[in-house]
Amino acid sequence: MKKFFLTTAIDYANGSPHLGHAYEKVLTDVVARTMRLEGREVHFLTGLDEHGQKVQQGAKEEGIRPQERCDRIADEFQEMLSKLEISNDDYIRTTETRHQKVVGRILQALFDKGEIYKAEYRGFYSTRAEQFLQEKDKVDGEWPEIFGEVTEITETNYFFKLSKYQNWLVEHIKSNPEFILPAYRQSQVLEFLKEPLNDLCISRPKDRLSWGIPLPFNQDFVTYVWFDALVNYYSAVSSSNYHSDDYWPADLHVIGKDILTPPHAVYWPIMLQASELALPKSILAHGWWTTSGEKMSKSTGETVDPLSLIDRYGTDAFRYFVMREMTVGQDAEFSLERFESRYRADLGNDLGNLLSRLLHMVHSYEDGKVPTAEVNESLEQCLQSQWEKSRDSMLEHFREFRFNLGIEETFSFIRSINKYADDRTPWKLAKSDEPDAKKELRTCLATMVEALRLASVAISPVMPQVHAQIHQRMNLEPTKIWKDELGWGSTLVGKKLQEKIILFPRA
Ligand code: MSP
Repeated sequence: MKKFFLTTAIDYANGSPHLGHAYEKVLTDVVARTMRLEGREVHFLTGLDEHGQKVQQGAKEEGIRPQERCDRIADEFQEMLSKLEISNDDYIRTTETRHQKVVGRILQALFDKGEIYKAEYRGFYSTRAEQFLQEKDKVDGEWPEIFGEVTEITETNYFFKLSKYQNWLVEHIKSNPEFILPAYRQSQVLEFLKEPLNDLCISRPKDRLSWGIPLPFNQDFVTYVWFDALVNYYSAVSSSNYHSDDYWPADLHVIGKDILTPPHAVYWPIMLQASELALPKSILAHGWWTTSGEKMSKSTGETVDPLSLIDRYGTDAFRYFVMREMTVGQDAEFSLERFESRYRADLGNDLGNLLSRLLHMVHSYEDGKVPTAEVNESLEQCLQSQWEKSRDSMLEHFREFRFNLGIEETFSFIRSINKYADDRTPWKLAKSDEPDAKKELRTCLATMVEALRLASVAISPVMPQVHAQIHQRMNLEPTKIWKDELGWGSTLVGKKLQEKIILFPRA
């Protein structure tokens, strides 16, 4: 059966992971986990982009081989994935043979079909930056100092016939509104496609760049890094280990907005179409984490290290924060104060205290066993109908990638559980001699246990560890399929709960 195949961008092997890389992996992981909870079989791919000038340069500066540098960076990125509890099924590195072979095969096939041709390229080249420059690189009509000496040179290269597919691509985008998401990004791509496309230079002469995949039809050249990197989505699932119809086409590519146009929205669909391969169903472009208003990146220097946040606050607090703060598609400014305030208020007070308070009461008043709800008054009915509303709208938000709003629905329900306790006052009922007090107390505890179980089911794709911890306190297995567990009215009566724990200790 066709799996739901989703991917992240593959990170550049030219620096350590930062918050932006971590966010994208968490976002994609939340989609993957949600799809599994919805009952789909999922294949989740991520990986590392290891070729190109910057990687070669970085290794040279360190005095090591590029592969050595890539191996070290791959370890760092993979450690991050594991600390973030990313549930990827595969990790592809573009220096692997399985990838290089497929790149070679695609290039050869395109060359044989006449989609790739050799031509002379004339342009301004900076030896210091080791790249061709464009008019837009000039400042006040001059080449800036950073480029050193700039000379006009002619170089032979190989070109891929992008322009031939321009009209087809415009048509494809217009007739498939789910191809580029969020929908407002479509107009940006269509705007770009109003200008005539140039054919794409897909080679680099080896004497200028050796760290790349050699062109199968001319070993004096290596493949342009984007042409190489994009193929990862296909190469990972087209080796003999996979029955490619179960995987291809990809259902969802999750990427940052900086690499939507042209690589993912223009080069990639045209590469696939020219190769007679099916196109991905959707490309979801997320926004940037910024610091001081600028995109967080290695080159600006102002980055946030996800590992130090995870070490200090825990994996799920990190996952919660990035998913709760970001509206998918838009930018968000990172602030530690904001992180700490969400940690204290949403996680510590609203959720963490609820769990420990509830477990404490069930142990003090009912010997740790879930009692039977014996009355059903407006307070209980209200909480239950609030759950049904929150759940339905949470599910809808999750299906539309509005995770921040979906999470907010669940947390507003969590606050309603706390409110319910404040209204029912079980601590007073426990001391009361009123005839109905004990019935009401048992009802209150049973209702709160059920409500918290549901909240735990709802947060599971975002906070898998916290979900497992709460479920474990209730002696329940982690949730597998949402629809089996999102309905009010499970029978936990008589179940022994475990002792209280602190989910979010003061950092
Ligand atoms: N190697 C290319 C992608 C090739 S995909 C076939 C690349 N690498 S990257 O390391 O620069 O970025 C990897 C992903 O992280 C991209 O989707 C990028 O948008 C994302 N982010 C990098 N910095 C970011 C932020 N500051 N905020 C959010 N995500 C950003 O591009």
